[in-house]
Amino acid sequence: MAQRPAEACRVCHAAITPFMTFGRMPLANGFLTRDQIPSEYFFELAPACCARCGAFQLIEQPAPDRMFHDRYAFLSSSSRRMQAHFKAFADFVLRWVLPGPADPFVVELGSNDGSLLRHFKEAGCRHLGIEPSTNVAALARTQGLQTISEFFNDDLATRLRSEHGPADAVVAANTMCHIPDIHGVAAGISRLLAMDGVLIFEDPYLGDMVARTSYDQIYDEHVFMFSAASVACAFGQHGFDLIDVMPQATHGGSMRYVLARTGRYAMSPGVATLLETERRCGLHEPLTYDRFRRDCEASRSALRDLLNTLRREGKRVAGYGATSKSTTVINYCGIGPDDIEFIADTTPIKQGTLTPGAHIPVKPHEAFAAAPPDYALLFAWNHAEEIFEKEQAFKARGGRWITFVPDVRII
Ligand code: SAH
Ligand code: TYD
Ligand code: ZN
Repeated sequence: MAQRPAEACRVCHAAITPFMTFGRMPLANGFLTRDQIPSEYFFELAPACCARCGAFQLIEQPAPDRMFHDRYAFLSSSSRRMQAHFKAFADFVLRWVLPGPADPFVVELGSNDGSLLRHFKEAGCRHLGIEPSTNVAALARTQGLQTISEFFNDDLATRLRSEHGPADAVVAANTMCHIPDIHGVAAGISRLLAMDGVLIFEDPYLGDMVARTSYDQIYDEHVFMFSAASVACAFGQHGFDLIDVMPQATHGGSMRYVLARTGRYAMSPGVATLLETERRCGLHEPLTYDRFRRDCEASRSALRDLLNTLRREGKRVAGYGATSKSTTVINYCGIGPDDIEFIADTTPIKQGTLTPGAHIPVKPHEAFAAAPPDYALLFAWNHAEEIFEKEQAFKARGGRWITFVPDVRII
């Protein structure tokens, strides 16, 4: 591709250049109706990895209020396995905060419908969710969960600190990587946290994405794909140490990061080990991304070839899970309604809409059950176990699954 002029890294301000482009992309959760097609929004999806600090990031990201608003389509509660994970995550956080000061206070960034936050309430903790998408925040409030509908930043942190006092833990799941002003967030967290408070967050992990060619993790909302090195660099500038890291199986490979003010807690040996692993495998090196780009192109060719063959054979193909991730796959691979009849999804707000960019109809799960296709393209591959368990009847009557992570395969 033609080299674009260098941009500045959002973490360390070094010059960065995208290593590839996925082309003109719509919003990953920009599900729409036919009359909205003429005004559909597009931007260029081009990632870069900063060779200096390791921050993998998008060059261009749409304005936050285009993505997070009163019709945000992603619901945390849509996976049963994730619900169990949130309980385990809350228990982990509670092990940090409960032995501390009496009446602990936990703040969650990106609390969505309250799937994680509710466990802090149930444990009797003072809790506060920060959730700018008002429709999902309203779902949390109906469960009695304290939720503010604003974007977390340094100004909001100042207000929260004076209204509620210091937080013993700030937590976030799959949210930190959504916020472009990482320094504003880190400064705000520093303002809000008690001296011995902890910041605990998890996000899809860069190392897993590269190893599995799960390029569909790259979309508008994911302005960052973090590694231990980039997290340490970003938060280190605000007086935090990365004191622990814990790999998670969720979302196709995630990492949990524990941070605290410098010198307050001992650092787990796992941090140095992971930093060394990232260095040794060249996770932030340009050569890695030359290879990753070729892997993306090969994955795209294999998926296109398979869909072309199935179309020639007159097979019926439907998609399973109108995920954010699917927007990248569908548009990058040029998949359209001629390849896939519809995508089945359990989220009410997505049903009856068209997918962003390619305009494939999204239907309720009942449509899949009523007329099962010959092949189901599993866009929610990160929930494969849960879905295979639920869809045994589909397989039993001869239906086949198509997955594309780590490679294109029929199951
Ligand atoms: N934590 C949930 C939701 C993740 S989706 C889960 O793991 O399932 C990311 C969420 O972050 C969205 O609900 C979005 O509205 C919210 N968000 C985006 N920008 C934010 C910001 N600046 N501050 C707090 N939340 C934000
Ligand atoms: P997910 O992969 O969690 O997230 P993202 O949008 O970040 O890529 O999205 C899962 C989607 O799949 C969500 O729209 C709900 C849907 N889904 C089903 O339709 N059936 C299921 O059994 C599960 C687990 C998810
Ligand atoms: Zn950088």
